Amino acid sequence: MSQLSVTPIAGALGARVEGLDLSETLNEETAAKLNDAFLKYLVLTLPNQSLNAPKMLKLTQDLGGVGETPYLTGLEDYPDVVPIIKEANEKSALTFGAGWHTDFTFQILPPSKTLLYAVDVPPQGGDTLYANLYLAYDALSNGMKDLLEGMTAVHSAVRSYGPDSTMKNHMENMKINNDSAEPALMSHPVIRTHPETGRKALWVNPVYTIRFENMSAAESAPILNYLNDLIINPSFTCRVPWQAGTLTMWDNRCTQHCATSDYQGYRREMLRTTVAGDKPI
Ligand code: SIN
Repeated sequence: MSQLSVTPIAGALGARVEGLDLSETLNEETAAKLNDAFLKYLVLTLPNQSLNAPKMLKLTQDLGGVGETPYLTGLEDYPDVVPIIKEANEKSALTFGAGWHTDFTFQILPPSKTLLYAVDVPPQGGDTLYANLYLAYDALSNGMKDLLEGMTAVHSAVRSYGPDSTMKNHMENMKINNDSAEPALMSHPVIRTHPETGRKALWVNPVYTIRFENMSAAESAPILNYLNDLIINPSFTCRVPWQAGTLTMWDNRCTQHCATSDYQGYRREMLRTTVAGDKPI
């Protein structure tokens, strides 16, 4: 195998990794180097891979075990591998994941990492944006840090997958199963300490965080809106373009991401898995 090379793609987060074939089992030294790069850059994008559903599943297992994926229907033979597909002839431009979020924060044990592999991409557009939640935390004043330190926030899938959510209507070629009743509420700390780096991250997002614990949604909104705006300050973000064969993995414990809906009339097909996570602290 050639030498692993890691090249940052922005000042805030994100790196391109070359010299690695993810379809082969990683030896201990390479796996350790990859993990070091992941903890440093939070988002790693690896072009020119040759993966498929079973290989992605194996990689996901090796990276910490497969996470649970509610609401989204996976491949028949590999239910933990979810196809994210937009066909060229769809009526809506809206793409899956087109709002800033961290994956599945409504779960008791939200996924630590997500893996996304590009099978088919539009000639232009369809990039994914990422934001660094450590930098957002670091940018807060000491007063705001003190205020948020002891607070918990309530997360729910209601906006995306609740009985009244219309998101699935825009995803004509995905099988999305909304809840028939109001989805469960899940409380997590607003400031999350990363279990491996020990760094603090501002861990709220506009899709799944619905309010602070012991406060109404209206009372929570001014501060949540402020925090959500702060997180996507361009200086805290990077942009990942895709080619067929690109695998990108991101750390849900310290990032948000957002897919762009700028390729209507073209096809985009991705395969997605999540790595099991632990309880946010
Ligand atoms: C996602 O939010 O999981 C999908 C992101 C993308 O398709 O770019």
